[in-house]
Amino acid sequence: MITASGLELRAGSRILLSGATLRVQPGDRIGLVGRNGAGKTTTLRVLAGEGDPYAGEIDHTSEVGYLPQDPREGDLSVTAKDRVLSARGLDVLLRDMEKAQSEMAELVDETARDRAVRRYGRLEERFAALGGYAAESEAARICANLGLEDRVLPQPLSTLSGGQRRRVELARILFAASEAGAGGRSGTILLLDEPTNHLDADSISWLRGFLKAHDGGLVVISHDVELLDEVVNKVWFLDPTRGELDNYNMTWQRYLDARATDEKRRRRERANAEKKAASLQQQAAKLGAKATKAVAAKNMARRAEQMLADLDDEPQSDKVARITFPAPAPCGRTPLTAEGLSKSYGSLEIFTGVDLAIDRGSKVVVLGLNGSGKTTLLRLLGGLETPDAGRVVPGHGLRRGYYAQEHETLAHDESVWTNIRHLAPDTGAQELRNLLGQFLFSGEQLDQPAGTLSGGEKTRLALAALVSSAANVLLLDEPTNNLDPASRAQVLDALRGFEGAVVLVTHDPGAVEALQPERVIVLPDGTEDLWSEEYQELVELA
Ligand SMILES: Nc1ncnc2c1ncn2[C@@H]1O[C@H](COP(=O)(O)OP(=O)(O)OP(=O)(O)O)[C@@H](O)[C@H]1O
Ligand SMILES: [Mg+2]
Repeated sequence: MITASGLELRAGSRILLSGATLRVQPGDRIGLVGRNGAGKTTTLRVLAGEGDPYAGEIDHTSEVGYLPQDPREGDLSVTAKDRVLSARGLDVLLRDMEKAQSEMAELVDETARDRAVRRYGRLEERFAALGGYAAESEAARICANLGLEDRVLPQPLSTLSGGQRRRVELARILFAASEAGAGGRSGTILLLDEPTNHLDADSISWLRGFLKAHDGGLVVISHDVELLDEVVNKVWFLDPTRGELDNYNMTWQRYLDARATDEKRRRRERANAEKKAASLQQQAAKLGAKATKAVAAKNMARRAEQMLADLDDEPQSDKVARITFPAPAPCGRTPLTAEGLSKSYGSLEIFTGVDLAIDRGSKVVVLGLNGSGKTTLLRLLGGLETPDAGRVVPGHGLRRGYYAQEHETLAHDESVWTNIRHLAPDTGAQELRNLLGQFLFSGEQLDQPAGTLSGGEKTRLALAALVSSAANVLLLDEPTNNLDPASRAQVLDALRGFEGAVVLVTHDPGAVEALQPERVIVLPDGTEDLWSEEYQELVELA
């Protein structure tokens, strides 16, 4: 069980949550929701014991498996397999067993060999007690289900993409939690922050099944509403404008109805209070004209003021970024061409001989399974990486805008303001301020280091830079990940209206619908085809 009491969370000087009591128990499957920047990640990190709250107590009585929203740094020299097995200490055991085994074979001295044999026996006993070879194959099964192929498992983490690393972390946590080997139920509480971000559709549906069956306790943050719908039996709604977390003890669909009713009530109360305050003010103005009633008038005015001050800010759920991409800078007929692109990492060949031509205003979707090189292709096209063979040829007037899935275009130590100045050097200060305002950045937040922004806020900032760039070829890598539903709708609208060319990588069928692509490139073969409905189905699978 996890219990938090008197919990207060802050972002800078802003209060996100105050005086909350939270409890996660076995059997709970809680969906933690709220707008981008509401404080979901902050809350989960604190529950996991990885961050300190501004005030309050956290008490753990179970094991916790925590998947952060950003890929973890840490020792990147260990292999993917060892990282997963380390969840139950099996990596070290296996290594020691191997060592004992080779000693048994090599040692000539009899007593030393006997010692090695005995050691091997002890190690194997412990190994068996922890689930042994069955556990090892269970780990492999979980990895496979999360789209980590066998060939990835012996690779050191440093050679894996951010997405692959995150899948390794998820596999590790689920492996620890599925400790069926010990007999009986898993006592691990899972705290998962956007677990579907780097998963393909098969893996997502497997994950849903896993989570649905997990009875050790779960808190999940996800922009995948189908997952929430299928998995959760409670919903926590975080609203920093009130500094409160509302607990809805019900399934997702019921929560949606209940919340809508609550919001309606709140809006009505607000309107009533405003009406009352207005009439008080009117009265006060009338009375104030008479000298004898001046004191009463002043009191009345003060009460009206107090009433308005007591109202919450406009609910955050009502505010959305208003986004439109500006007209693209003029360019030639084919602003970007690629010829015979090949790329390998070490001995691992990603793709070879990919040709393509991006015409002015054309819309292209890149499809391919996890690991087929979609991000790599976009980085090559964006000029952020060089191909092993072939070349990327800029056409007349080319202006590229690259949106990176891992937000690597942002300088994490620099402020929001410095970042946008760098990313859009040709735009005037006032214009940039307006632009940031449109994307809901203002005041204190302009000075915040970009690295401390929430996932959705980083997405918003990177998109703001794109909007200011007058790019005529946008290279977009999963632009809707991490966005709350209202912000996602805005981005899709902007995409719909954009006149320049777009090369899009996405798992989000809605994003493809908004783009209305003419063509598709399928990796790793690099086959190019006209877009058709059949591909729409592939989007989710890819
Ligand atoms: N060091 C800091 N200084 C100021 N504000 C901060 C700092 N660290 C985080 N914040 C702010 O705290 C707020 C909550 O962030 P958090 O990551 O918890 O949001 P979230 O609900 O998980 O959002 P998302 O849906 O985008 O992932 C954000 O507005 C973020 O910018
Ligand atoms: Mg978050």
